[in-house]
Amino acid sequence: MTDVSVSNLRPTGAAQPASNAARIRVNGLGKSYGALEVFRGVNLDVGEREIVAIVGPSGCGKTTLLRCIDGLLPVDAGEIWVDKQRVTEPIAGVAMVFQHFGLFPWKTVFDNVAYGLRMAGASKSEIERRVPEFIQLVGLKGFEKAYPYQMSGGMQQRCGLARALAVEPSVLLMDEPFAAVDAQTREILQFELLRIWEQRPTAMIFVTHSIEEAVLLGHRVIVLKGRPSGIHENIAIDLPHPRSRATLREPRFAELRERVWGTLMNEAQKAEFQLEKS
Ligand SMILES: Nc1ncnc2c1ncn2[C@@H]1O[C@H](COP(=O)(O)OP(=O)(O)OP(=O)(O)O)[C@@H](O)[C@H]1O
Ligand SMILES: [Mg+2]
Repeated sequence: MTDVSVSNLRPTGAAQPASNAARIRVNGLGKSYGALEVFRGVNLDVGEREIVAIVGPSGCGKTTLLRCIDGLLPVDAGEIWVDKQRVTEPIAGVAMVFQHFGLFPWKTVFDNVAYGLRMAGASKSEIERRVPEFIQLVGLKGFEKAYPYQMSGGMQQRCGLARALAVEPSVLLMDEPFAAVDAQTREILQFELLRIWEQRPTAMIFVTHSIEEAVLLGHRVIVLKGRPSGIHENIAIDLPHPRSRATLREPRFAELRERVWGTLMNEAQKAEFQLEKS
């Protein structure tokens, strides 16, 4: 088992993103909750047009890592940079999508999607121009006046995605965003996300428990190890873009999925955690 400094490992071949400039830079990151050391020595660069998928045993600190990058949690060691800005609190240009939608139940789809823009001080005319654009992008046109309770889980997740995208973030942090929806909706949303990313590429970190999802979406898959956590392995996903349902049938997809599975199982067994094989 070796620690890998991700900054030394870039994707190659067909999976190479259009630009390799690092948008997120995590250096020597350490984080504890009291006596519990969650991770240490995490180094990670994410390019400005790169999707990095993160998998790892339950409880190894994936959500904690995203919350640190989002500026919601203070770090104990190391530093995080987004472009030229050091992250010490939430910063503009970084948006997060949560597992459980995180919508305001008392707001309509339109007002949920408008929330981030309002917080950022966007004018009324700008909100009226941009919100419908993003509602359409995620396929919710016609549901502008619906409340979350009137929508399915998949629709709520689309709304959460539109809310994150509406602020036109340069960094998108996604914490198991499709975990709460059924398998069919999940597959649809994965391809929707790929379509949206092709239209508006950003730096993205995508945390998931599904190995298949990680390989389908990521330019790289990073496998975290058990506590104290760190980067166990960085696997370049050299599948061509744009990816589609046909990608799932490629022999290379199966090879990569097995490789990630083997690495993760190794870690999970060490950590004595139960994992879901997708
Ligand atoms: N606010 C907190 N205070 C104390 N301990 C916490 C806090 N948040 C998380 N932890 C602990 O830190 C560890 C990492 O938690 P985290 O939620 O980051 O894991 P995770 O990898 O996202 O897990 P999962 O895959 O189950 O979502 C866990 O042991 C958890 O119990
Ligand atoms: Mg988590």
